[in-house]
Amino acid sequence: ATHKLLLLPGDGIGPEIMTEVKKVIGWIEKRGVAAFTIEEDLVGGCAYDAHGRAISEGAMKKALAADAVIFGAVGGPKWDGVPYDVRPEAGLLRLRKDLGLFANLRPAICYPALADSSSLKREVVEGLDILIVRELTGGVYFGEPKEIVTLENGEKRAVDTQLYTTSEIERIARVAFDLARTRGNKVASAEKRNVMKSGVLWNQVVTRIGREDYPDVALEHVLADNCAMQLVRWPKQFDVVVCDNLFGDILSDVAAMLTGSLGMLPSASLGAPDPATGQRRALYEPVHGTAPDIAGKGVANPIAMIASFGMALRYSFGLGGEADLLDRAIAAVLDEGLRTPDIYTEGTVKVGTVAMGDAILAA
Ligand code: NAI
Ligand code: MG
Repeated sequence: ATHKLLLLPGDGIGPEIMTEVKKVIGWIEKRGVAAFTIEEDLVGGCAYDAHGRAISEGAMKKALAADAVIFGAVGGPKWDGVPYDVRPEAGLLRLRKDLGLFANLRPAICYPALADSSSLKREVVEGLDILIVRELTGGVYFGEPKEIVTLENGEKRAVDTQLYTTSEIERIARVAFDLARTRGNKVASAEKRNVMKSGVLWNQVVTRIGREDYPDVALEHVLADNCAMQLVRWPKQFDVVVCDNLFGDILSDVAAMLTGSLGMLPSASLGAPDPATGQRRALYEPVHGTAPDIAGKGVANPIAMIASFGMALRYSFGLGGEADLLDRAIAAVLDEGLRTPDIYTEGTVKVGTVAMGDAILAA
C-alpha cells in the first residue's frame, strides 16, 4: 500500500530531528513492506515568517488529505511577540481541531539502559510500558461558559466548565479498549466520581462500553488523585489508563517523568475512523518542544521524534512488526551505551543527532 505522509518539521530542533525520521522512512521503503508519498510544509514560527500565519490553507489541505501528519515542534523566543491568533502554537491547535484529534496517546516506556536516570528506583520503572489515553478536545479546557466576570461588589469570579457528553466519553473509551486489546488487555479509567458529575457519567459510560463490547478486557476504575499516587508508587500495575482532558494533561506528565528524559517521549493524536475506510486521521509528534537552547547545534535527541514515527507505523499503517523492530533498535543502541547529551551519564558515549539516527538504523 502507498501511505500519504505530511511532514511538518516546524521550528528549532524540529528540522534536525525530522531529518532522522526521513532516514527511517527510507529504511522502511527499502525493506519493501510499504511505500510512502511524502509532502512537507511549514508550521509554526517559520510559517508565520513566510505567510504571516502559523499554518497556511495549503498546508491544512495537505494535512486533511494525509494518512498521517508527522509533526516536529513549534515556537521559540523569536516569535514571543507575535499576535495571539497567529502565534506558532495556533498551527498545532488548528491541526488538532480541523483533524478532529480527540484521543491523545502518550506511552511511558522505560528502556532498561536508562532506568537509573529516572527519579524513581530502578525496580519501580525498569521494563515499564504503559499508555495514557487522554481525551483532547472536550472537558474543562473548552466547556462554556468560560469567563472572568466582575461582581457587583467589585470582586471577580472565574468560571471554567467541565462538560462531557455520552458520545464524547464513548469514543475515547473505545480507543482505550481497542488499544488495550493490542497490549496487556487491561484498562484503568481515572476520574473523580466522588466529587464531579462528569466523573459519574464518565464512570457509567466506560463501564457500559466495557461490559457490552469489550468483556474480554479487564476494566478497573481509579480515582484520578489516587491514580497519580499509584503512577509514582508502582506504575507497572497499569497497562492503558484512560482519562479526561484535564486529568490526562497531569497524569501523562507524571507518567512521562517516570522514564527519564523529555527527548525520549513520543505521542500520537487520533481522530474518528473514516466510515468508508476505517482509517483514522492522525498526528504524531514528540512531547518536547523546539529546544531553542540547543537548536542548530546537531545535539538534539532524535529518539522521541523517531519513536513518534514508530507510533505512526503501528497505529496508522498496520506495520506493528516494523514498529517493534524500530523500538528494539532504539533499545539496542541505548544498551550499546550511545547517548545524546540530554541523556548522557558517565561511562556512556556521547553522540550527536545524526550519529544517533544512523546507529538506530544500523541496529
Ligand atoms: P522544550 O521541550 O523545548 O525544552 C525543555 C528542555 O529540554 C530544554 O533544555 C531542551 O534543550 C531540552 N530538550 C527538549 N527536547 C530535547 C531533545 N529532543 N533533545 C535534547 N534536549 C531536549 O520546552 P521549552 O523550553 O519549555 O519550550 C521551548 C519552545 O518550544 C517554546 O517556544 C514552547 O512554546 C515550544 N513548545 C512547543 C511544543 C510543541 O510544539 N508541541 C511543546 C512544548 C513547547
Ligand atoms: Mg501538559
